[in-house]
Amino acid sequence: MVLSRRTFSAIAGSAALGLSIGCGGGVGAAAGPAPTGPAPGPDPGPPGADGRTHTVGFDKYSMIVDGGRVVLWSGEVHPFRLPSPSLWRDVLQKLRAHGYNTISVYVSWNYHSPAPGSYDFTGVRDLDLFLRTAAETGLYVILRPGPYINAEVDAGGFPGWLTATRGMARTSDPTYLTYVDEWLTAVNRIAVRHLYTKGTGTIVLYQLENEYANHVAGPEGRDYMAHLYKKVRADGIDVPLFHNDKGRNGHWAPGTFDTGGERERWLYGFDGYPSPSKQPPDWGYFGVGGTKGGASASPRTPGFLAEFGGGWFDPWGGVEFDGKGYAESRRTRDAAYERRFYLTNLANGIKVHNVYMTFGGTSWGWLPAPVVYTSYDYGAALDEARQPTAKLVPMHQIGHLVRSVPELAALDRAEDTVVGGGAGIKAYHLVSPGTEAHVHVLRNDTAADVVATVPLAGTTAPVPVPVPVPGRDARLLVTGISLGRRMLRYSTAQPMLRVAAGRQDVAVFTGRTGEATETVVECASEPAVTVHDGSARATYANGALRVTARLGGLTRVMVEGGGVSRPLLLLLADDETSVRLWRYDTPSGSVLVYGPALLRTATLHGTTAHLTGDTIDEADLEVWAPRGVTRVVWNEGRLPMRATLSGSLHATRRLPGAGPVRLPALTGWRRKAENPESAPGFDDSTWRAADRTSSYSTTPVPAGQPVLFADDYGFHYGDVWYRGRFAGAAGARSVSFSYVTGTQGLLMAWLDGRPLGTHRMPVPDKKTVRRGTWSATATFPVAPGEGPHVLSVLVRRMQHDEDGRANDSHKAGRGLASVTFDGASPQVRWRIQGEAAPDPVRGPLNNGGLYGERQGWHLPGIPDGGWQSVGLPRADRGQGVVWYRTDFRLTVDPGTDASIGLTLDDDPARAYRVQIFLNGWNMGQYINDVGPQHTFVLPGGVLDTRGANTLALAVLADGTTPAGPGKVELTLLGRAAGGVPVTLVDSPGPTR
Ligand code: GAL
Repeated sequence: MVLSRRTFSAIAGSAALGLSIGCGGGVGAAAGPAPTGPAPGPDPGPPGADGRTHTVGFDKYSMIVDGGRVVLWSGEVHPFRLPSPSLWRDVLQKLRAHGYNTISVYVSWNYHSPAPGSYDFTGVRDLDLFLRTAAETGLYVILRPGPYINAEVDAGGFPGWLTATRGMARTSDPTYLTYVDEWLTAVNRIAVRHLYTKGTGTIVLYQLENEYANHVAGPEGRDYMAHLYKKVRADGIDVPLFHNDKGRNGHWAPGTFDTGGERERWLYGFDGYPSPSKQPPDWGYFGVGGTKGGASASPRTPGFLAEFGGGWFDPWGGVEFDGKGYAESRRTRDAAYERRFYLTNLANGIKVHNVYMTFGGTSWGWLPAPVVYTSYDYGAALDEARQPTAKLVPMHQIGHLVRSVPELAALDRAEDTVVGGGAGIKAYHLVSPGTEAHVHVLRNDTAADVVATVPLAGTTAPVPVPVPVPGRDARLLVTGISLGRRMLRYSTAQPMLRVAAGRQDVAVFTGRTGEATETVVECASEPAVTVHDGSARATYANGALRVTARLGGLTRVMVEGGGVSRPLLLLLADDETSVRLWRYDTPSGSVLVYGPALLRTATLHGTTAHLTGDTIDEADLEVWAPRGVTRVVWNEGRLPMRATLSGSLHATRRLPGAGPVRLPALTGWRRKAENPESAPGFDDSTWRAADRTSSYSTTPVPAGQPVLFADDYGFHYGDVWYRGRFAGAAGARSVSFSYVTGTQGLLMAWLDGRPLGTHRMPVPDKKTVRRGTWSATATFPVAPGEGPHVLSVLVRRMQHDEDGRANDSHKAGRGLASVTFDGASPQVRWRIQGEAAPDPVRGPLNNGGLYGERQGWHLPGIPDGGWQSVGLPRADRGQGVVWYRTDFRLTVDPGTDASIGLTLDDDPARAYRVQIFLNGWNMGQYINDVGPQHTFVLPGGVLDTRGANTLALAVLADGTTPAGPGKVELTLLGRAAGGVPVTLVDSPGPTR
């Protein structure tokens, strides 16, 4: 019998299983063992800076906040990878809406510190504002200020200046600790203002160091960790602390170093980036591994994945070590990967789960570590242009699930379920102590779709039911949970949320489109059932209502009566539909919204629900709200609503979609060549003499040479120039430059103004790429004669290595190492020039030492009227640097959030690269013959979407091929009606 939009009177069937359980729940046939931890109090709801004090603790099951269990379902976001503070709110609201209750945040020391003793937390560096925005959005924060973070940033987060200091970093070396204390004092001064314990913010956890695996056994490591612990506590951080162990090794578990007797305030956390083609590992609280980790290393702290791969970073392109672009990351770690791996994590007792990255963003300026290019999109669920991807679907479903079903916060492992007909299915079985809930995770490790027969027990004896598990996918099933006033016996669809909305309970279940599902709800007597949408069948037997449906769109089944006065609305949603269902908890009750592309906020005032959010196409709007709410305002516009049989309010007018966004062609280019430094007569008298004789670099200074590493002279980022004067060169046949850079570095040289050529750092292979051994020697034939002569050398250093192995690899030299001649031994007197004083607004990582940068050619408002007018594409020949500038105006409608990028393209044989400056902000580096990145996100705020903008391109060509720019155009990466208000970031010109 198929029911559609009409009342179904269920026929009472036999009571074969002999249990009579009321709709309001009752005695369980399979109650779990008594809890060993505190009874799971209710999740205390979304956090905020509410002025009240709070308790933050944990037991072996989960975090416990104000006495209630909370599963922290967290997404990693880096404020330093989105240099537009207004857009932080956009990203955080999107994460909250998609089910996250927590964000995890690295703070990168180098981003805030241009020099020892100098710390900047203003403008795009306003950590205070970021943490306030997180609290206003209702997200808990896991703060991770290092001092070392890794994170694919320059020197793993260490400031450039730290590369030229004494003492072994990441140990208890006293000089290093002095700097560390300086940093922690600066960052903690802000962090203490945002502790959830104080009611002034939402920080609930704080990480010390990161993946600190190399000094675990020695005193220099243990003393270092003890020092950090003491320092952070002395600074007033009173929330639980933890470390992120590099893999599940049990390193830095409670009791492994001195926490001043505070063993109870330290958690064990670890990370994992398993290969998506392998079987998901069992390495959580319940995982195997002897003394290596998980429960065996830390039986009294909850399973805590401080980072779990939500995608993966992408390297530069090149023959041996080939970046494929982030579409590839998103393909290999797709929605099904997330379900397989994240549900396995939950099955292994993980209760603090952080997805690294959930929004990757942009490593703008000189922020990227040598292993990555500008985009840090990461193949994350929310892409670099802030657009949702299909990967948000499982995030949304699981996030809302752990928030709505408190039983999931305390689970014990039970005997694994025996599955019939499911070869290749791995089945996990967990029980919630003290309740009747069972959780089953079914994972299909084969490529074939499988229908497994699973014995599901709710409050009855197990019933074998067919459950579809698509190939290389997974699903979570629950039995015996409350749906409000009624109990779920079982469902073959995955639960997503349950909420008391208005006069009824609403429960949402999800699955793939077209799947056959069966949902059984306990009912002592026969209820009235109405199918309002979709097709479903309902039968009543054995004290339970059985609803079968094939998923497609939103199937609505209203269950009324049956001994319970409160109706239950069952919503069965396919994946696509599930991400149009938005739950928002307000102090006056929960709201469930269906239809728009995003719900950002919901506030209730009297009889009106005020909603803000986004649409892309036209959309319906339906709202389940607390009793008494009769009016709805969407983005400040009142909407006519009608009441529906589903207990909701439905807008009688559709919400409009986003309007068109027109982008101008980029024309009116002006061109100017630079590198006057290559000319013999260039005045370098203000440059620093490179005459030091010792260095703290880990790269040895070659015998008989002065120190030439740029960091030793205070130049830490981007290009660096050297000019060397010498005589006595008669007989010289060649000159050799040994130099050190990050990957994709290069060196170009001139002798007395004549180009000698360009040498590119060989591309490392996968094995060596993280080790940072990028040194090479470039030899050019010369016949200079006696002299005097001038050598001019430009080194594109790229960046400092990370220090992942805690062996000071960030101190590997950068720039020239030595210069020797074959056939002569002239003494060269060197001068060096790198970046000018750091831009006080855009920060130390914005600029390198190109002539144009030192002159401010990247800035808006410089007088470029005298530059040569040119059109693109170009096909210039010659070694050196040429700048191109243009202005353009955008007129995006104020109600439209347009995400815009800059796309460069050309014949891939052309050997040139481009630094992209938008309104003076360094938006990254394009390497035409390397790739893979062609489109650079221009974040609104840096980009004025309703005004004038200046684009400056610094093109560096090696002269072996014609050089562009080729095609340069603006690209629309996404648009929505809605968005957040965007304040322009300060983009000063040269007068400041
Ligand atoms: C982790 C590390 C992160 C990041 C990640 C890879 O091991 O903790 O900082 O480097 O790897 O993206």
